[in-house]
Amino acid sequence: MIVKLKKQTLEVLKLLKKKQSIVNATDIAEEMNIDYIVLMSAVNELIDHNLGGFKEEELYQISLNEEGKNYLKMGLPERQLLNLMLKEGIKEITLKELLKESKLKPEIFYVGISNLNKRRWISQSKATGENTLFLVVDEFPQTDVEKFFKKFEENSILDYSKLSNAEVKLLDTLNKRKLLERTRKTNRILYLTEGGKKIAVSKIKELTQVSKITSDMLSSGTWKNLDLKPFDVTKPGPILKAGKIHPLTNLINEIREIFLSMGFTEIRGPIIESAFYNFDALFQPQDHPAREMQDTFYLNNPKTAKLPEKDRVKAVRDMHENGGESGSTGWGYKWDIETAKKTVLRTHTTATTMRRLAEFYRNNDKVPIKVFCIDRVFRNEKVDKSHLAEFTQIEGIVIDDNVTLCDLIGLLSEFYRKMGFKKIITRPGFFPYTEPSMEVSVYYDKFGEWLEMGGSGIFRPEVTYPWGLKEPTRVLAWGQGLERIAIPYYGRKDIRDFYVNPLNWLRQQSYLK
Ligand code: PHE
Repeated sequence: MIVKLKKQTLEVLKLLKKKQSIVNATDIAEEMNIDYIVLMSAVNELIDHNLGGFKEEELYQISLNEEGKNYLKMGLPERQLLNLMLKEGIKEITLKELLKESKLKPEIFYVGISNLNKRRWISQSKATGENTLFLVVDEFPQTDVEKFFKKFEENSILDYSKLSNAEVKLLDTLNKRKLLERTRKTNRILYLTEGGKKIAVSKIKELTQVSKITSDMLSSGTWKNLDLKPFDVTKPGPILKAGKIHPLTNLINEIREIFLSMGFTEIRGPIIESAFYNFDALFQPQDHPAREMQDTFYLNNPKTAKLPEKDRVKAVRDMHENGGESGSTGWGYKWDIETAKKTVLRTHTTATTMRRLAEFYRNNDKVPIKVFCIDRVFRNEKVDKSHLAEFTQIEGIVIDDNVTLCDLIGLLSEFYRKMGFKKIITRPGFFPYTEPSMEVSVYYDKFGEWLEMGGSGIFRPEVTYPWGLKEPTRVLAWGQGLERIAIPYYGRKDIRDFYVNPLNWLRQQSYLK
C-alpha cells in the first residue's frame, strides 16, 4: 500500500529515521527550523499512519535565582570573605572590621562566617574583648558544594532527572540557602513505530499543497493527492464591498421611523413644480426676490404647469390682489396667471405641503391631519462645504383646531430629542407664509455648537383660506435641512460628501446598531 504524506511530514520522518538516540520535539523543531506547532501537526500525521508517535515526560529544571547568579560571579559569601583575607594577608581580624572591609550586607556576611565556621577554617575568640576571628588552616580547597555550584557556569539549566544522588544532596544545600529556582516542563520525546522504522522513503508519495480544489481536480481524481492548505480562521477576512444603502437614505429611513412613531403619514410631491404651488399658494408676491432666476431653477421643458381647479386659482389670486375673505388686504397688485404657470425645480417641500392643503379642500378632509415629507429640493446656489444646490428637506404640517406655537415647539423638540439632540432653541424668524415664524437651532455636543436647522411657523390666513382652513383650524408647519443633521450624524465636515460619493467612506459605513 502506498502511503501519502505531506512534504513537511515526510521531512520529519526522514530526520527521525536518521536519528539513533531519543529525540526531543523542541530540539527537532529547532533543527528543522520550523514552528513547534507545525512539527507536532506533522507528528500527528505520522500517528495517523501508524508510523510514529510521542511520549510525554515531566521535567524539573533547576536554575539559579538572582542571588545565586550573583554568587556564581563573585563566589559564595564564605569564599568572598576568605579571598579578601588572603589577598590582604590577614590571619586575624575583628568581625566588625571584616564586615566593613567586605562591603557585604550583614545578613550575607554572617552566612559566610557561619559557613567558614562549619568548615572549621576559622575560629573565633572574645579574649581581647572584641569578637575576633583567626584563620586556623593554610589550605582552603574548593568544597563539594562549590564544585557543584560551578556546574551552572556551563549549563544555566540543570535537569533534575539527570543528577546523581550525591548531586541531589548538594542541590538540597543550595536550595536551603535559597539560591535556586525550579521550573516544571513537559517534554515530548518523538519516536518511530516499527512500521515507521521499516518503511522505505521511496514507498511514500508526497502530497502537494494547494489552497483550493478546482472542478478539474475533482473530475480527474487528482484531489486525492493534494494536501489542502490549512486556513487560519482567526485572520480577518477580505473586506466585502457589498452594495448597501447610501448614508443619506439610511438617515431618511431613521427620520421616517421617527415621524411614523409620532403618528404622522408620509406625503410625496413632484420635483418639477408649478410656481403656483411653490410660491403663489404660499402668498409669496410675484415680484418676490426668491422667485428670481438667480435663486430658482426655471424649466423650459415643460414650460408650463397645470394649475388646480379654477375656483382655487381664483381664491389664490384674490388673496394676492385684495386678501379675499381672510380679512387681509393682500398685496394689492394685479396677479398674473402666466407667472403662476411657470415650471420650477421645487425650491422647498412646502410646495408639496400646499398640494396636501389643496387635497384637504378637495376631499373635505377632517382634522387632525399630521403629514411629513422628506424629499429633494433645488436652489440656484453656489456650492461649498456648507451649501448645496440640491439638498433634502424634512417638512411637516399639523392641521388641527386651536393648535398653538407651543404645540409646534413641543413637536420639534420631541423630533430632535428622538434624533439624539437634547437642546433646541427657537428664535423669531420671517417667512412670507407664516405668522408667527420661528427659526430652529439644535445644540450639537460633539462640535460644541448650535446648528441652524431651518424654519417653522403657523401658516397665515392668506395661505390657509383658499383651502377652506379657517379659525380655529390652524396649520403648524416646518421645513428643515436633512444634510444639516447628516453632518453631525455621520461626523462629516463637508456637506458635499453626501453627493460626491467618497468611496472609502461609503465602504466603511455600517448600519448595524
Ligand atoms: N420653506 C422654508 C424653507 O425652505 C421652511 C419653512 C417651512 C418655514 C414651513 C416655515 C414653514 O426654508
